[in-house]
Amino acid sequence: MTSKQSLKGKTALITGASRGIGQQIALELGRRGCRVILHSRTLSHTENLLSELQQMGTQAYQIDAELSDTVAVQSLYQRIIDIWGHIDILYNNAAIMTPYHSDIFITNAEEYLLSFKVNTIAPITLCNLFLPDMIKRNYGRIVNITSGIKDQPQLMAYAASKAALDKYVYDMAPHLKGTGVTMNLVDPGWLRTDLGGPNAPNAVESVIPGAIVPIVQSDDTCGKWFSAQEYIGQVV
Ligand SMILES: NC(=O)c1ccc[n+]([C@@H]2O[C@H](COP(=O)([O-])OP(=O)(O)OC[C@H]3O[C@@H](n4cnc5c(N)ncnc54)[C@H](OP(=O)(O)O)[C@@H]3O)[C@@H](O)[C@H]2O)c1
Repeated sequence: MTSKQSLKGKTALITGASRGIGQQIALELGRRGCRVILHSRTLSHTENLLSELQQMGTQAYQIDAELSDTVAVQSLYQRIIDIWGHIDILYNNAAIMTPYHSDIFITNAEEYLLSFKVNTIAPITLCNLFLPDMIKRNYGRIVNITSGIKDQPQLMAYAASKAALDKYVYDMAPHLKGTGVTMNLVDPGWLRTDLGGPNAPNAVESVIPGAIVPIVQSDDTCGKWFSAQEYIGQVV
């Protein structure tokens, strides 16, 4: 397989597609000819994006699920299989940010639990559910959106949840060798979104094209970290 693969006709699920980074990824996948399944917690959150994509000529669909709920995550997978049969591309993008604690010695177990449920366990569960079918079909591209957050113990519940997701990707990747399926990480950079806040230095649009890079690479590109901001202005 060559690099810069076409994505035309591929079916992609993007979690957290209603706004921010997920919305940018959904629009770009639509421009590249993918069928896109837009996830958020409530269907009304993706209604405007759905119309925008459909007006572009993209086959777009909506699905809802609360990702802190393990039963809802299983049901999300089952509904996708029942309705669309399979997916080729999975962007585990949805996440929550935990409160900022100036007192870095506070351990709030509830915040850790919620953060790990949404940011770590839900994406890992979706990977583990979709991977066997992707392997059987000899094709799949999974991107787990991570974070470059560092030296900020004030946000440790969030930071640790992303580090755990990174560990999953690094340790699973060697087991995907030769399957036609890849799984990689994308760090979007610090962007102005609801999660990133208004003081972030980068516009949300700057996540493109970097966020797309891992899914247009050959099968050999697996278990790697991509920094989206390094690809600004490049043709991908
Ligand atoms: N922005 C940054 O600077 C930055 C930096 C590093 C990494 N990231 C990562 O980039 C990804 C996207 O971040 P963003 O800035 O675009 O966030 P955002 O604007 O806050 O959007 C979050 C998305 O996730 C969904 N979501 C939130 N909580 C959920 C839950 N409990 N169950 C299901 N869906 C839920 C939201 O859906 P609803 O519409 O239903 O709320 C929304 O679509 C995240 O993984 C984040 O950690 C962001």
